[in-house]
Amino acid sequence: MSHRLLLAITDQALASSAVALAQEGEGLEVVDVVSDAEEVARALRRLDVDAVILHDALGAVPVLDLAREISASNPEVGIVLVAADESPDLLRAAMQAGIRDVVGLPLSLERLEASVRQAAQWSRALRDRVAGEESAGGALGGPIVAVAGAKGGVGTTTVATQLALAAARATPGRPVCLVDFDLAKGDVRAFLETPFRRSVVDLVEVAGELSVRHLQETLYTHELGFRVLLAPDHGERAEDVDSVVARNVLTAVKARHALTVVDLGATPSEASAIGAEMATTVLVVTTPDVVALRGVQRLRDLWRRLQVREDDGVVVLLNRTSRKLEVQPDLARKVVGIPTTQVTIPDDFGAFEAAVNTGSPGRVEDGKIRGAFAALAAEVAAPEADEDGRGDRNEPRSLLSRLAGERGQSSVEFIGLAPILIVLILAVWQVGLAGYTYILAGNAAREGARELSTDNTDEKGDRPYRERAKESLPGAWRRNAKVVIDPKDEARVVVDLKIPIVLPTFSGPLRITSRASSVSELEELPPSQSYTPTPTPTPRPKPKAERVRADR
Ligand SMILES: Nc1ncnc2c1ncn2[C@@H]1O[C@H](COP(=O)(O)OP(=O)(O)OP(=O)(O)O)[C@@H](O)[C@H]1O
Ligand SMILES: [Mg+2]
Repeated sequence: MSHRLLLAITDQALASSAVALAQEGEGLEVVDVVSDAEEVARALRRLDVDAVILHDALGAVPVLDLAREISASNPEVGIVLVAADESPDLLRAAMQAGIRDVVGLPLSLERLEASVRQAAQWSRALRDRVAGEESAGGALGGPIVAVAGAKGGVGTTTVATQLALAAARATPGRPVCLVDFDLAKGDVRAFLETPFRRSVVDLVEVAGELSVRHLQETLYTHELGFRVLLAPDHGERAEDVDSVVARNVLTAVKARHALTVVDLGATPSEASAIGAEMATTVLVVTTPDVVALRGVQRLRDLWRRLQVREDDGVVVLLNRTSRKLEVQPDLARKVVGIPTTQVTIPDDFGAFEAAVNTGSPGRVEDGKIRGAFAALAAEVAAPEADEDGRGDRNEPRSLLSRLAGERGQSSVEFIGLAPILIVLILAVWQVGLAGYTYILAGNAAREGARELSTDNTDEKGDRPYRERAKESLPGAWRRNAKVVIDPKDEARVVVDLKIPIVLPTFSGPLRITSRASSVSELEELPPSQSYTPTPTPTPRPKPKAERVRADR
């Protein structure tokens, strides 16, 4: 497997000699040569690169700053610095900036090859590790929980951020992504105080063919264990994200995460409509006051009019609840008229203050508030919901998935479920076979008894009742059937059949016996029944003419 290199060298002569050496080296492929910092960023976005070779005299930007930026945005790319000076100070500073190795000038094939190979291998190992952790960390393609505001300022971003954090904390290693689709004025960036500049707008050009690499470059990995896709720094760029881009981006993010939390904000846009449409669950955040509660209704009506989504899967979350307020949760629940979450978030700005002011969501330390978000994550974004939410909201549910109470499950789960289903089907089939054998035995006994009532011959080789009973049985049952006259009652036929196992041809150890008797026509009737009374004739009424004559 060859290692892909990006050379960032301004000096033409040095660049050519580096290309020539790389071509001489085994398994090294130069994918591009760039000459300034901006081109490096563009090339990294465009190309699949394992290692970057940076020359220390690269344009105006200090090379160590550039290295720091590359390792923040592309942590999986190995960086090798080519420098005239190889002093211990430079080495230490280079390591701190995320550079894997420093190669001195003049370049030698041996040094360059060894450093680049080592950096590229490290990059590969890191990528494999990340991919492995993701798939081990939980099911990917998990549910999307969209968080929308009934009106501005009700705490939508606070809820979305804390929900993503609580879900990541609840199951460490579960890939969780927070997407800011409040594109015009999204402030997830401010809530997380990140210097990361990439945003969803960087995916616009490649939205039709989003690769893992594009996502890796554009998603910011927060130290608290979740990833973030930010809204653009400049609100006017929100227009670049139309519904096609929004759908492609959300589909790609969902495919790589076990849970995707989307902040839709409170202002309707093409992207927020797509978020609401694709979401497994939409949480509409409201505060317990009449204006915000009306906002819930207005948002639902809007989504219905625009055919974005019906009420199915839409739940209302009450934020900033307090005993001191006029509108208590029970009243608010009645007013909104659609399901609300069991969890409500108490009003306590003090609990959020440090987190908001320092841009570190982890600094919400109040037990009550943290507990409320943990409970909310368990209610709307628990890992079990992954299976339920996997696949598209509109994906039709297969019969098997309905049987298992699951939706859009993968074939892997089906394989786990298949043995149970097979055993269940076989058990039902076996019960059916036993029932059918019981019916056959009863029927054969009746046939035998009917024959016995007209012909009671029962000699070796001539047992008509037995012939008749067996004739009434299907072949598979006939072979093992026992037909005898009941030793206790000569007028009764006993039929004994083996219950087949799974297939009629495999007879099992269990048997079913049925008896039927019939009165023999050859036997004399008991005395009580042998007397047949002769009916007394009823006198017929005289014709009318005779009656008249007699009267005279
Ligand atoms: N439960 C709460 N108790 C006290 N303060 C809260 C609570 N929830 C949110 N806040 C505060 O309310 C303010 C607004 O929150 P946030 O930015 O999350 O609202 P928003 O709905 O996203 O606003 P916008 O419509 O501007 O996007 C923040 O200062 C936040 O700390
Ligand atoms: Mg917000």
